[in-house]
Amino acid sequence: MHGNPLHTRLCDEYGCEVPIVAFAHTRDVIAAVTNAGGIGIFGGTGLAPDNLRTEIQWIKEKVGDRPFGVDLLVPASFVEGNREDLEAMIPQGHRDFVAKLMTDNKIPQPKSLRGEAGLDANLLRRAREQLDVILDERVPIFASGLGSPAFAIEAAHAVGTKVWGLVGLPRQARRQVEADVDLIVAQGYDSGGHSGTIGTFTLVPEVVKLAKGSKTLVLAAGGVSSGAHLAAALAMGADGIWTGTIWLATHESQTEMFLKQRLVEAQAEDAVQSRATSGKPIRQLRSNWSEVWKQPGAPEPLQMPLQGMLVGPIQTGIREAKMEDWMTTPAGQSVVGIHSIRPAAEVVYDLVEEAQEMFDQLTGEPVGT
Ligand SMILES: Cc1cc2nc3c(=O)[nH]c(=O)nc-3n(C[C@H](O)[C@H](O)[C@H](O)COP(=O)(O)O)c2cc1C
Repeated sequence: MHGNPLHTRLCDEYGCEVPIVAFAHTRDVIAAVTNAGGIGIFGGTGLAPDNLRTEIQWIKEKVGDRPFGVDLLVPASFVEGNREDLEAMIPQGHRDFVAKLMTDNKIPQPKSLRGEAGLDANLLRRAREQLDVILDERVPIFASGLGSPAFAIEAAHAVGTKVWGLVGLPRQARRQVEADVDLIVAQGYDSGGHSGTIGTFTLVPEVVKLAKGSKTLVLAAGGVSSGAHLAAALAMGADGIWTGTIWLATHESQTEMFLKQRLVEAQAEDAVQSRATSGKPIRQLRSNWSEVWKQPGAPEPLQMPLQGMLVGPIQTGIREAKMEDWMTTPAGQSVVGIHSIRPAAEVVYDLVEEAQEMFDQLTGEPVGT
């Protein structure tokens, strides 16, 4: 074989050493992955603009000229209105259901509403303010988790920031290629967090086909937890992988220890989709929270952002009282690849080593020769 299959267009265009992209909410994970040769993408949605700036400046100091990015959830479809109008749209039956959950399960009223998911009534205005910070700080990559990031392209490119978009459907990918988005993350059904209905193995080659001949790169996401997945992603024509779940159980991750342990023990079937938190399907570890919304008599979760507004207080109450059976984390079927709690850099090195072994096995000769 000629050339190193792990040195892809992503490495050429972004200056990373390996085609591994890590999404995480902990800045230390971002710094560790970027410094290990990959690209860390910081999940900034939940942060007020000033706090986001502080985190970005911290990461910049740790990684120097190496590539990293910031991701925001900017949904394309959601119910719009001011806070009062939106509150009025929440049906009384839903409020009663949540009130009963709190009483029946002794879930306390929240002491504070700070630090809520950020998917509230002001989500679009806040996303614009956050984007201003990202561009002002000249972050190398802006990634948009929901909806199309096309609106940001002109302003981002003007300051040298690349624009990436996550998609779960080929038609979303087509629109983004047409809009000249720099990179598309093709995110399959298996993935942690907001996830769609098409499996990674089906979606990725479709998106690769759509992007062929354009300048748009493609990353495979959803269910990626080993070097075999990395090798498979490249074999499907992707320029690299985008991963989320596998970083949750790293030393650097701020995920609580009991959840890290649950991630180590979990099987793929323990990562269930539920609309109960944001109104859009989020794959997460099964907990009392995901289960009560599936019981007979439970109301259908509302649309974004109404569901987030409805359940924000109860979820804060659960967290403040540390009710572990009710707490969860977004997680994908890739939990099966988590066997221990270990440093993020080690996860990067193992992915690379395993992928190299896969290529050796496939070609019968060491890669790079
Ligand atoms: C804990 C967690 C939180 C996530 N939050 C976001 C988010 O805020 N924005 C986003 O674009 N994707 C988010 N995702 C999805 C990831 O970006 C990624 O697409 C997904 O984790 C890939 O699948 P995997 O978990 O199987 O690796 C989240 C994923 C996890 C596990």
